[in-house]
Amino acid sequence: MTEPPRLEVRGLTVRFGGFRALSEVSWAVRSGQILGIIGPNGAGKSTCFNATTNMVRHDGQVLLDGQDVTGLPAHRLAKRGLHRTFQQNAFFGGISVLENMTGALLRTAGTPLAAAVLLPWVEYRRRHRAEEVAGALLVRFGVPADLHALPPGSLPYGTQRMLSIALAYADDARVLLLDEPAAGLGGQDMEKLAETLAALRAEGLGIVLIEHHMDLVMELADHLVVLEQGEMLAEGPPSVIQADPRVLEAYLGHAA
Ligand SMILES: Nc1ncnc2c1ncn2[C@@H]1O[C@H](COP(=O)(O)OP(=O)(O)OP(=O)(O)O)[C@@H](O)[C@H]1O
Ligand SMILES: [Mg+2]
Repeated sequence: MTEPPRLEVRGLTVRFGGFRALSEVSWAVRSGQILGIIGPNGAGKSTCFNATTNMVRHDGQVLLDGQDVTGLPAHRLAKRGLHRTFQQNAFFGGISVLENMTGALLRTAGTPLAAAVLLPWVEYRRRHRAEEVAGALLVRFGVPADLHALPPGSLPYGTQRMLSIALAYADDARVLLLDEPAAGLGGQDMEKLAETLAALRAEGLGIVLIEHHMDLVMELADHLVVLEQGEMLAEGPPSVIQADPRVLEAYLGHAA
């Protein structure tokens, strides 16, 4: 028997008033796979993530490891290992990079309140351990130790993008939805990003990557979905999509 996909969406449809932002969009990503979602501005890519994580009203179905999770709110999906980043960076600005990361780790595995109150040393040890893990994770995602005590807003932009991914990954992501992680990145940061995503895939994560940087997405994705005006224009392996005249036209048409 083959394993069900890590994450599958079937017939996702989103309406904003009379406007259909997404029409019958279906895709799946398996463990150890990167699915790329591309398409011109306004095609419905981010809306796809918002529908998947139940942040907008939608029709259609969402399955996580073969189980129907369509009705679950984002925080319940997160507990099951479905994590996402946003097109804009979102950090807690008043605390340090390390505290942001530690918080993300502690959120995923809470001590019951009674234990935290009655056994403060347990809570202390747990926090201390989380800080160690947080520090190591940050370094792994390309945020060097000398930046951990700073507020996130003072990091170089490329490092902030990597921090977003580290926070989404925490330590228990099974599926990552990444909304334009390479936006605004330069060459060296782009390489670090590509390397990191390839390593996460090798670890068995399912990754859905929305990206405008064609070089990156063509290099990384195992399979691509092309959206245009809320519809699935094409899907297939990168080599096939690159040669698809409809895809070229969708991009050139919008650039003109
Ligand atoms: N909450 C909302 N209310 C009304 N319209 C919305 C809402 N969110 C998105 N839209 C519209 O839905 C369409 C798809 O938007 P979406 O943000 O998904 O596009 P996108 O493919 O992510 O574009 P980009 O590449 O610019 O990020 C756009 O026309 C957008 O204006
Ligand atoms: Mg978007």
